[in-house]
Amino acid sequence: MNSVNSCNQPRMYPVLVTILLILLTGITMLGRLFSKSWDSKGKHCYVTGGSSGLGLAVAKLLVLKGAHVSIVSRDTQRLENAMKELEAIRTSPSQIIKSYSYDLVTATGASQALDAVCEPHQGRNPDAIFMLAGSCHPRFFIEETEETMRTQMDQTYWVQAWTALEASKRMVRDKTKGKIVFHSAYIGYITLIGYAAYGPGRMALRALADTLRQEFLLYDIDIHIAFPGTMYTPGYDIENATKPKITLKIEETDPGVTGDQYAKGLLRGVQNGDFHISPDLLGNIFRASMRGVAPSGNFFVDSLWNFIGWVGLPIWRISVDSTVRGHRKEHEEYLANKGFYSSKTKASATS
Ligand SMILES: *[C@@H]1O[C@H](CO)[C@@H](O)[C@H](O)[C@H]1NC(C)=O
Repeated sequence: MNSVNSCNQPRMYPVLVTILLILLTGITMLGRLFSKSWDSKGKHCYVTGGSSGLGLAVAKLLVLKGAHVSIVSRDTQRLENAMKELEAIRTSPSQIIKSYSYDLVTATGASQALDAVCEPHQGRNPDAIFMLAGSCHPRFFIEETEETMRTQMDQTYWVQAWTALEASKRMVRDKTKGKIVFHSAYIGYITLIGYAAYGPGRMALRALADTLRQEFLLYDIDIHIAFPGTMYTPGYDIENATKPKITLKIEETDPGVTGDQYAKGLLRGVQNGDFHISPDLLGNIFRASMRGVAPSGNFFVDSLWNFIGWVGLPIWRISVDSTVRGHRKEHEEYLANKGFYSSKTKASATS
């Protein structure tokens, strides 16, 4: 028996595996450097919630990059102030920067807003939709009412879902190869005491975005969804006003960022083509541990399931994606036969 070999090999394996992992990580990161990133210059970007907070921060970055920017929100005074900020940083006189006041929690509102923003662009749809409107009102569950529960769902899920629906129909009809960007939150991965009304909406957005990422392979429309943590924006003060003390205490470990700081990471993710965008440490940890905070079963058995899923799910996803791509021609004929491309009714609320 060769004692030298049998001693050396077990020690060599971890080293080799580590070197291999570092090499693979390096190669995938280098690949990103050379892949072509999305450029918003000259594109029409539609930003909901664009009058303050994260929405305004993203609108400003887009204006600085030379995009045509349309912002929508309810508050006309805020829109006016935001327009002054955006006008001050325009990069060219031909840049079209406009603001609109609409309530986006109904399909009709979402549809009317989209019709309005298309007008200065010869009726053409926006190239990119950034859905950054919404608000958070944490409370103990037993303090919620039917009204607060419904409002919170409006302000998380519907305020984005309706715009996504209306924009998708227009983009598919006009064959716009665009982008639709949702925003969820850490709570869309890992929910907490106090978020009984807010968490389900954030998770529902994740389900919608996950579905559309696959379905929209049919149309070359890219889906993105961002997962910010605590952000110090005007919305934070509203959130803080009803936040239970215990929730505040648990969240102490999240240092939080400003809207401007997060906007940079969000836009970088969109430019890089990232699907789930979590440009910070906690976001990445939560994303990679998506079973969330549900207690797990037997540790060893679950580790086995985990391993099988880790290896098997990406393979399954790639095969399903490829099946969807293979369905494009048939789907196009299906839409044509149903009269989708010639239909004049735009709003799903009126069709
Ligand atoms: C949030 O509200 C708590 C009181 O519930 C207060 O102590 C804290 O300073 C507030 N935080 C911010 C950032 O306004």
